[in-house]
Amino acid sequence: MKAVLYSILVFFVTSSAWAQREVTFTDTVKPEGALIIAMRDNNPPQFLDALIGNDELLRLQRAIEASNFEGNAGQIATIYNGAIDFGEIHLIGLGDDLMKKRDWEDFGGYAGKTARTSKSDTVFVITDSDDIASILSAGFGAAIGQYSFDSYKSDTSPVSGTIAFVTQNSSTAIATYEDRYRHLAESVRWARDMQSEPGNILYPEEFVRRARELIDRAPNVSIDVLNVRNMEQLGMGAILGVGQGSTRPPQIMIIRYSGGRPDEAPLVYAGKGITFDTGGISLKPKAGMWPMKADMTGAAVVVGAISSIAKSREPVNVVAIAALAENMPDGGAQRPGDVVRTMSGKTVEIMSTDAEGRLVLSDAVWYAQERYNPELLVDVATLTGSVGGALSDEYGGLFTRDDKIADKLINAGELSGEDLWRLPLHPNHDKQIVSVIADLKNADTGAPGASTGAAFIGSFITAETPWAHLDIAGVDWRTDPLPTVPAGASGFGVRLLDQLARDMAVN
Ligand code: BES
Ligand code: MN
Ligand code: ZN
Repeated sequence: MKAVLYSILVFFVTSSAWAQREVTFTDTVKPEGALIIAMRDNNPPQFLDALIGNDELLRLQRAIEASNFEGNAGQIATIYNGAIDFGEIHLIGLGDDLMKKRDWEDFGGYAGKTARTSKSDTVFVITDSDDIASILSAGFGAAIGQYSFDSYKSDTSPVSGTIAFVTQNSSTAIATYEDRYRHLAESVRWARDMQSEPGNILYPEEFVRRARELIDRAPNVSIDVLNVRNMEQLGMGAILGVGQGSTRPPQIMIIRYSGGRPDEAPLVYAGKGITFDTGGISLKPKAGMWPMKADMTGAAVVVGAISSIAKSREPVNVVAIAALAENMPDGGAQRPGDVVRTMSGKTVEIMSTDAEGRLVLSDAVWYAQERYNPELLVDVATLTGSVGGALSDEYGGLFTRDDKIADKLINAGELSGEDLWRLPLHPNHDKQIVSVIADLKNADTGAPGASTGAAFIGSFITAETPWAHLDIAGVDWRTDPLPTVPAGASGFGVRLLDQLARDMAVN
């Protein structure tokens, strides 16, 4: 009975997510819609002549003058006074810079948010560009910028209708958007949903179920899930130790996408998936513990990225590994001072049960190397408070011993709008993680905490494996919104890892 009630509840609360305006492209504008006009100053753009009459243009000009609108990037003014046939007109400033891809995404983000509250069924967006890449970026920005997590609000009015970006090449824009950007936007929103889901709803097995749901229709994809017994057989003492204090068993989910040649070594992404991190017996302080429901962000973004890559059929082989566990402090929980044997054979002394991310990843990256011999292995984790202290909400922390890999990742970050900053991985850190009684210790390493965390994972990487570690503990959850990222869950990493795979596909 309990189980039945429970599944009804789960069904009920998960059925309403992602209410938002659909992004589309059009070459015609109908006056019954609302209008968003992109402007670089306070003069209505020339091309409006073609859409509205001279009198209306004059009235619009007066209304703009009365509104203090100057066209600065991100400035928004709304005019409802019936200046022209469109009942509702929003002006959004572009600024006067030459705009890069991410600036267009930002503009789209503002437009998406503005459109969300409009009463019109269709909101048309008119810009001064007919460059298809810019218009697509704006559309993508609108899709991820209007995100909000409201699955648990009983009284949200449903958002519907479309936001239509006006372009001469609307059919090409629609086709390209459907091929690529829709999947990426879906993945970003999915990852944000997963981060936002509370720990009572999202635990390792539920993560796997939802990841299957997302991946469902993706081509050339296969899924494997390791349960506790499989992990025992493989000798994965580290992830098993982390999971043993929870009633929800740990899982490792492996998703393979074969878009490249069969003999091509894959790009492997491994994500930390702690569905809730209490710290375990090394219990975290009670204040501010709730964001630890997002300690599975690494796992969510590797799954989101592979879904998008597969659905847009990129010619590359990718493997995503989600190392899932709940870090809880029950009577069977692992203790500080315990020693565990990892799949690699190396032993670890648990100095803090709260340094659990590096433990689950040590088994995941070892498994990745044994099975897949990666062309490049990137692990992604909300690993340390330390990285947030250094880089805050602005950059994800990047750690690698290879300058070429660093360049690749930083470049993918710039292109995708998810910036990385490289931090040290000094040989001395390898001495700091040596235990008195075991091979390694997982904490009490001294500073710098983000780097010793990276070195710990690095000690499970063989000399032949090209590797980078991303510590996203600062950027996974935002305090202030960006045009394309609301406050709260950011989905940081989906766009970056999607971009990296596309870069690898062309090289
Ligand atoms: N999940 C936390 C890191 C974290 C902190 C993520 C803040 C997001 C926001 C991680 O498991 C952790 O507890 N790290 C410890 C490591 C220490 C015990 C070596 C930390 O950073 O204090
Ligand atoms: Mn922890
Ligand atoms: Zn953690």
